[in-house]
Amino acid sequence: GKVAVLFGGTSAEREISIMSGTGVLAALRARGVDAHAFDPAERELAELKHEGFDRCFVVLHGRHGEDGTVQGALELLGIPYTGSGVMASAVAMDKVMTKRIWQADGLPTPRYARLAFDQQSREQILAVPDVLGLPLIVKPPREGSSIGVTKVQGYSEMEEAVALAVRYDADVLCEEFIEGEEVTCAVLGSGLDAVALPVVRIAAPEGAYDYQNKYFTDDVKYHCPAGLSEAEEHEIRRITLAAYHQLGCRGWGRADLMIRASDRKPFLLEMNTSPGMTTHSLVPMSARAAGISYEDLCLRVLATSTL
Ligand code: DAL
Ligand code: MG
Repeated sequence: GKVAVLFGGTSAEREISIMSGTGVLAALRARGVDAHAFDPAERELAELKHEGFDRCFVVLHGRHGEDGTVQGALELLGIPYTGSGVMASAVAMDKVMTKRIWQADGLPTPRYARLAFDQQSREQILAVPDVLGLPLIVKPPREGSSIGVTKVQGYSEMEEAVALAVRYDADVLCEEFIEGEEVTCAVLGSGLDAVALPVVRIAAPEGAYDYQNKYFTDDVKYHCPAGLSEAEEHEIRRITLAAYHQLGCRGWGRADLMIRASDRKPFLLEMNTSPGMTTHSLVPMSARAAGISYEDLCLRVLATSTL
């Protein structure tokens, strides 16, 4: 049947979604799928129904795409779609909500403080490093691709970091900085069929795995296999799968983690329910290491589409 590849959208990650979606669309077409681009920023989702689309491949990133809203609309339209459903998408879009679930389930995630909209006085902001230590990370809880993120080195940088984050979200996530290695782990499939793919280790210049270095430079080195011990590789995959299931994810996803240098303990940072599919992105890289080409990956994700 006819497949709509949903990409573009209105979030701050629009540009990235266009890169991801262009790749997915080409891959599906190369494999003979009757796939068409559909940008919900330009058209009404109801047109999907009128134009006879049978399924949607969601490659939207960020708000109004990865956060359960589009998923809810597709549920109402009765059109099967790839990736997580409404609740898991909404929860995973919010890093604070995600951490609350993981903590409740005993999964390791860095300590944090949430500064709600009414908790952002100078005193409250400057109290955070006393609790979390320095450096620390300040993030808008509902963004992706490192947009609005600051690594704060000293008290004097706190207010500016919070001011940047509140350009994207009303509340702010302050997170303990885990000194160590940055890794990511992709998941393919749903329920008992979900499998974790090989771990990717990210070596960014001076630890700056930021928006620019994620997509627009070749300064970051990616290692897959990650060069971890067998036990560590296994443990990362295990907690990633647990993190995926506890959020209720399905289809596919990608957890981002840190491995603390001092004791090699892994910490979950977040779950991406509509992971990047650009030429620089990590799920395609991990899939390739598992013997799954980009085109096969797209077909396998498409096959998981459901209502
Ligand atoms: N948010 C970006 C697209 C990613 O996680 O890959
Ligand atoms: Mg993300």
